[in-house]
Amino acid sequence: MNAEKIVEVLRQDLTQGLFPSDRQLISNLNDIYELELAFYENRILSDAELIRNGAYFALVGGEYTRHFLMCTGEPLKLPDHSSSRLKSFFEKNIFRTGYATHGLFPYRGKFHPQMIKGLINVMGLKPGDTVLDPMMGSGTVLVEACMMGIKSIGIDASPFCRFMTQTKLDALTMSLARARGALENYEEVFAYFQKRVGRPKPGSKPSRAKTTKGTMSVMEETAEYLTKRDQQTLTEKDRDTLHTYHFLLLAYLDSAGYAERSARKAPLAQFRAILERYLFVAEKIQNVQAGLETELAPAEVLEGDARSLSLDDKSTDGIIFSPPYSFAVDYLANDSFHLNFMGINSDALRGKMIGLRGRELSEKYQLYREDMEKVLTECARVLRPDCFCTIIVGTNNNQLGKVFGVSPDAVQGLHEILIDMGAGCGFKPVKVLSRPIIGISNTMRREYILILQKYSH
Ligand SMILES: C[S@@+](CC[C@H](N)C(=O)[O-])C[C@H]1O[C@@H](n2cnc3c(N)ncnc32)[C@H](O)[C@@H]1O
Repeated sequence: MNAEKIVEVLRQDLTQGLFPSDRQLISNLNDIYELELAFYENRILSDAELIRNGAYFALVGGEYTRHFLMCTGEPLKLPDHSSSRLKSFFEKNIFRTGYATHGLFPYRGKFHPQMIKGLINVMGLKPGDTVLDPMMGSGTVLVEACMMGIKSIGIDASPFCRFMTQTKLDALTMSLARARGALENYEEVFAYFQKRVGRPKPGSKPSRAKTTKGTMSVMEETAEYLTKRDQQTLTEKDRDTLHTYHFLLLAYLDSAGYAERSARKAPLAQFRAILERYLFVAEKIQNVQAGLETELAPAEVLEGDARSLSLDDKSTDGIIFSPPYSFAVDYLANDSFHLNFMGINSDALRGKMIGLRGRELSEKYQLYREDMEKVLTECARVLRPDCFCTIIVGTNNNQLGKVFGVSPDAVQGLHEILIDMGAGCGFKPVKVLSRPIIGISNTMRREYILILQKYSH
């Protein structure tokens, strides 16, 4: 090819070949799977749907998409002491993770919200449909679906996950006035929570501070009482109390987690910075939603077991979930501080947690497979025929290689195991996408997105 031709080729933009010229991708897309999801979104959604719910486009026919508008605006204020690595992470990820209430609590194994939005679209889910996440963790699917007008049900074995997810959903609409007031008295709030727990012993119900009844103590007692009541019958004032208390508690637990991991900043200052950030993100998304006149869809947050779902046959239009990557992460050990704070006995929970059952690693692995088979059977039962079930899973080949005494390359990947298992439960694989996992490349290199379809009958 001569130089003139080469210049002509080089002047072409890859995206011009993939998308109509009136569509502009969101900046910062740099993984191939993101381009693939954008490609499918473009083929599956109408212009109006792309503007309302698209994950990967900034402009469609000269109009800004909601995703673009939701993520831009005033950048997130990070505390001054934040490392330059953290600052650049937030800059790079403003369209991926740094929007809405997704940043409330850094839960281990959390989904990329933008990817979930893209997958919800690619699975053909529309406002009015219902999506299920049977292992919701911190509720990424529910928060995304809610903002997209899609009904959702989330289930997790851990009561802490239920609390965290509900709080992130409530923060999309709650009145923030009292939490803002609490920020002005952050020392008092912090001292209350600190006294409230001290350092809880595993399984013991933490004692309440025996001081005179202050605002926080009254708020906590009221919140405890209201949690047990039928949520539909709560007055606006009750809701306000409940939501504010949970919002403050999540910020405290988040700061306590940080304080355990890093001595960079004193716990009190950490709490203040986190509460400030929570208020900032909640206020920002609430303003955006009001400006865009978004109608939020209902989300049901449940504690339960993915191996036996309390849902009717064929009652959901789509399922998205990420199971534990066999025994790679001990979610109970990770959350022990928070579980203890909430008075939850993690030992009793252990028997329900997939990936944690069993003693020896090989027994754990065997039980993991049995449990996952039950989960897939349940997913097939509650999903409508022809609908999609998307599973996101990484492979811990290095750990599994040690269990079986073989090289990591000789281990069958979890994604392949789940595809085979799915076939036995009524699912056919439609698409497998893969993405790199950044940061833990020495133990886990890739994560797989498996899109399975339930057979018609
Ligand atoms: C990889 S995490 C999910 C993270 C989630 N996708 C998010 O965005 O935060 C896996 C979750 O499975 C939950 N889990 C483990 N065993 C379970 C069971 N039997 N039933 C329901 N959830 C379970 C764990 O508590 C954990 O939150």
